[in-house]
Amino acid sequence: MTKKLTIALDGPAASGKSTTAKLLAKKLDYIYIDTGAMYRAVALVVLESGMDLTDSAQSVKIAEQSEITLKLIEGNQHTFLNGEDVSDKIRTPQIDVAVSQIASNAHIRKIMVKLQQAMASEGGVVMDGRDIGTVILPDADLKVFMQASIEARAKRRLKDQANHNLTLEEIRKDIERRDHADMSRKESPLKQAADALLLDNSNMTIDQQVEKIIGWTKQL
Ligand code: C5P
Repeated sequence: MTKKLTIALDGPAASGKSTTAKLLAKKLDYIYIDTGAMYRAVALVVLESGMDLTDSAQSVKIAEQSEITLKLIEGNQHTFLNGEDVSDKIRTPQIDVAVSQIASNAHIRKIMVKLQQAMASEGGVVMDGRDIGTVILPDADLKVFMQASIEARAKRRLKDQANHNLTLEEIRKDIERRDHADMSRKESPLKQAADALLLDNSNMTIDQQVEKIIGWTKQL
């Protein structure tokens, strides 16, 4: 039997990680885990509880009391928060803004690290995020750091977010703000792991990206 690998995909906002990871997992018959959805779910529960996002202790308390689970339904990952499917609710411009604050909270990250490492413990996973290769799965069989130009990323997000009415410029600014927050935070900042392979997909199709990564898995 071929070994079930753990594949870590990291990179900045809208760099194509989730689309690539999803397709890659499908092709390999692996589980796809979108760790960003978990931080988004925490941001949602804190916002819905009316708490101040900058109140770190309260945010941690709420995160500890919340149950966040990821389930595969008809091939798509759904995010559940205390039993409610919040997959759509976590993809709004308000959550895009709130999530950076949540993700910079060391205690919340500790909770997420435990959950995410447990999810990947059996292998056969493609996990995407910001700290997968550096913190969550430092021994992953394959680490990929995805990158794309800001123009390419903003255009892709504009397509995905058709119903939020943001302009290309607003999307570009939000991506830059989020990347800056993710790269400059003290706790597990976004960075390429020393042993991660760089995939600049500015001019690549999704299929080309997936094929490239599958090619890398064959060289292991
Ligand atoms: O991947 P996505 O853009 O949905 O992630 C939302 C946010 O969650 C990121 O901007 C980042 O602040 C945070 N995040 C993180 N570590 C991860 C995944 C996401 O800090 N492993």
